[in-house]
Amino acid sequence: MSEPEWVVPYRPRGSIFGPGEQQALHALLEGEETLSCGGQRDAFELEFACAIGASHAVALTSCTVALEFATRLIGLEPGDEVLAVSQTYHATLQPLLDYDVTVRFCEIEPDTLNIDCTALASLISPRTRAIYVVHHGGLCVDLDALSRLASDNGLRIIEDCAHALPCTHNGRHAGTLDLGCFSFQSYKNISTLGEGGMLTARRLDDAERARLARAIEPLASYTPRRSGALGAYSGGDPRIMWHHRQAFGRDCVDVHWAGTNSTLAEPACAVGRVQLRRLNEMVDCRRAIAARYDEALAGREIVSPLNPPPEGDQHAHHLYTFRLNGTKGMRDVVLAALVDAGIEVQQRYFPVHLMPEWRLRNGTTILPVTERVWFEEQVQLPIYPQMLEAHVDYVIDALVGAITPRKSTSRC
Ligand SMILES: Cc1ncc(COP(=O)(O)O)c(C=O)c1O
Repeated sequence: MSEPEWVVPYRPRGSIFGPGEQQALHALLEGEETLSCGGQRDAFELEFACAIGASHAVALTSCTVALEFATRLIGLEPGDEVLAVSQTYHATLQPLLDYDVTVRFCEIEPDTLNIDCTALASLISPRTRAIYVVHHGGLCVDLDALSRLASDNGLRIIEDCAHALPCTHNGRHAGTLDLGCFSFQSYKNISTLGEGGMLTARRLDDAERARLARAIEPLASYTPRRSGALGAYSGGDPRIMWHHRQAFGRDCVDVHWAGTNSTLAEPACAVGRVQLRRLNEMVDCRRAIAARYDEALAGREIVSPLNPPPEGDQHAHHLYTFRLNGTKGMRDVVLAALVDAGIEVQQRYFPVHLMPEWRLRNGTTILPVTERVWFEEQVQLPIYPQMLEAHVDYVIDALVGAITPRKSTSRC
């Protein structure tokens, strides 16, 4: 079936990249530098870490890979428990399907769509090892509450920051508590040519292990090998045999993580550096669109806006969401009216605890707030820097028409 021609698509068509990105690419492709594992990656990691105040940043091929790495790094063991938000993209928790651990889903706050830190506290048990959160739509989770819970209970924190560039709470950037996973996929607040990600780490050992693993270096325990020979063969000229020289000098006693190849390529990193410099400009466009929607919805009884960030905090405006509290079924009528007007609707995210893989794993979990908000209340509107003023006007007109009660025209 062919894609309908939307008047306003939910996601941007075409590229956000401008002359700066094109120049960076051109310079790289015309130059003599490597296109893999080079200076662009090192510079991008450093600039990214500085931009958000992270101790370490490791560039990877996607946020999903960063989440897989983070899950590896925390060293989960069979029988451990993990606490997780369910109102997120399934990539946040997908890696946990490969682990023999118990995942306890936690409720969200309806006014932020972020994990409810009070509910979270009540789920902690002596077997809890880690907390998985997402900064939904770019509104920061209460980092102070989260960090207190983690330090009081010795827990690791994995922050899914796919929407969270640049979002802050109390002067601290999302992704700086412990392990943070960022996305540079095409629709995110910055992009590295369509796909890309960054793992941020507070601990140096985590960053070092991630750097080894992304270069397909096994993380393993070794003992020195005395003979320096393998059967009849020795290492040979190290200038020629450098790649496998370690095979002669050590024996492996245990492999913890085989590693993989998931480094972010130089062209992507070069573009990412330019995008990072343009971040504020692009988030300003998002903020202006959000302000127009806020204004159009203000003061309407059936609309519950999400909470704005507390004074001084920054919202990344990756998604625009509000809740409708009208009569039952009204939300779906409004969404259908938007679609009928040619406005593409994509609701994010189907609660993970209701997905078949997690139902198989966990049986029935009931999260009344998460489910009510998803199935009955939430509405998400298109928001991206490429939207024209006319697109925003069109969405507002259609939305206001759909949520404004019709006056009866019939005569008595
Ligand atoms: C909340 C969230 N987490 C993770 C991801 C995965 O990011 P990536 O596409 O970079 O793997 C996404 C992508 O949409 C996302 O929205």
